[in-house]
Amino acid sequence: MRLLVTGGAGFIASNYIRHVLRTYPDYHVINLDSLTYAGNLENLKDVEDSERYTFLKGDICDNNIAGGLEFDAILNFAAESHVDRSILDAQPFLQTNIMGTYNLLEIARQRSCTFLHVSTDEVYGSIEQGFFNEESPLMPNSPYAASKASSDMLVRSYVETHNIHAMITRCSNNYGPYQFPEKLIPLVILNAINDKPIPVYGDGMNVRDWIYVVDHCRAVDAVLHKGISGHVYNIGSRNEQPNIDLIKKILTITANRLDLDEGNLMDLINFVEDRKGHDRRYAIDPSKIERELGWQPNMTFDEGIEKTIMWYTSNKRWWERIISGQYIDYYNLQYGERLET
Ligand code: NAD
Ligand code: DAU
Repeated sequence: MRLLVTGGAGFIASNYIRHVLRTYPDYHVINLDSLTYAGNLENLKDVEDSERYTFLKGDICDNNIAGGLEFDAILNFAAESHVDRSILDAQPFLQTNIMGTYNLLEIARQRSCTFLHVSTDEVYGSIEQGFFNEESPLMPNSPYAASKASSDMLVRSYVETHNIHAMITRCSNNYGPYQFPEKLIPLVILNAINDKPIPVYGDGMNVRDWIYVVDHCRAVDAVLHKGISGHVYNIGSRNEQPNIDLIKKILTITANRLDLDEGNLMDLINFVEDRKGHDRRYAIDPSKIERELGWQPNMTFDEGIEKTIMWYTSNKRWWERIISGQYIDYYNLQYGERLET
């Protein structure tokens, strides 16, 4: 099978590409990524020499992008993904997340290929009690979430109108190796290591539902191979935590593992002004994918967070090159150019 994976230089899709190349010895992956600030080819250094991997620098909004490429399925991970950035400037979110998805849907329609759209639980908005299931109404609250909800609606419309073969996944908060340090978990780990203040929005009691990134990748793969066209699949690990509890847990493990003073790390916690429109709680009911596709998470949170903290502590060069900016498009590729290794 030949897969076109968009956004493959980002956090989740780079883990997905590694998962696919390891799991299926006969699969070929084309990684299409425009290398925004969030795209880092160093995330895939260990696979870039593989004959079954091709990197192409390109924008999902470019309607000529698929010319000359052969693939059986498009997996659309590419997006502007950070809520805080969407509050400062929504335009790139609307462009990539909506227009980019539309462009890829057109390509899927013209090629009659499978389209798997990687979406988020944030499209459902905030939930005080209970859990989101696939029938929950879409009530996005941030410009990021609204752009993802719009793209989900476009996918639905292409299934209904053009009868394309497409599935949507909606996952909860991911964590694990290669996550860009603007997101909460890597930010806490790196600020603890570097003795910098840890900003906690509002009262720290907002709840997020955390899943280890490889479990998300396994779920996406289950949907690709066994999902039913037109269906939505929620993905989650049943692991809700208030932000402040999560932050303290990370600081305790980091202190133990690096032999640092736990009290000093706790003193780095700094309550700051709340995020605008900050969703109070996310909680996903993953029973449909468990029941219908036989997927289950493999990683417990205790194992996953320990593994993640150790990954960041032993991959200093990776994050130092992000902090210094050296990671950005370090092969200096032009649009439409492939990485030749
Ligand atoms: P990320 O920000 O780490 O990576 C996004 C990637 O997309 C980057 O490599 C970037 O260069 C690329 N990209 C951006 N605009 C592009 C464009 N116009 N053309 C081509 N490439 C472009 O994101 P992530 O956290 O890995 O999220 C991946 C996907 O999963 C997103 O669709 C996101 O909405 C979804 N998701 C994320 C989470 C999470 O917790 N991070 C949870 C559920 C769903
Ligand atoms: O739920 C899935 C979503 O999870 C994905 O769709 C998004 O792409 C991904 O970015 C993530 O969104 P969140 O806004 O939940 O993640 P973030 O890591 O930005 O924040 C997690 C929580 O921590 C949230 O309640 C805000 C809070 N926070 C975040 C940062 C960056 C802080 O308190 N301080 C911070 O500095």
